[in-house]
Amino acid sequence: MKGNPVEANYKAHLFICTNDRGPNGKRPSCCHAGSQELRDQVKAGCKEKNFPKGSVRINNSDCLDRCENGIVAVLYPEGRWFTNLKPTDVNLLVQAVEEAVKGK
Ligand code: FES
Repeated sequence: MKGNPVEANYKAHLFICTNDRGPNGKRPSCCHAGSQELRDQVKAGCKEKNFPKGSVRINNSDCLDRCENGIVAVLYPEGRWFTNLKPTDVNLLVQAVEEAVKGK
């Protein structure tokens, strides 16, 4: 029904900031630190894990307001934040997703 809350069934819903303020932004942008590459690799890594259908979602997000500590990501439902990520931190995030799916 329109406007009613729905219950999400994701065991792991990861948001990775891919915000881009452009080269002259007043604050850093996660995009310029390689967050799109990280997001794409994490998504591919999660796909390889073959998690149960509908249990995981990996999303781009707009600014999470921790720009000076980018790349930034947050994993729900636990609300676990990751800061100062590098584009190579793929395994760290895939492992966090896996732990959430397994309820660890
Ligand atoms: S641009 Fe990524 S947290 Fe602000």
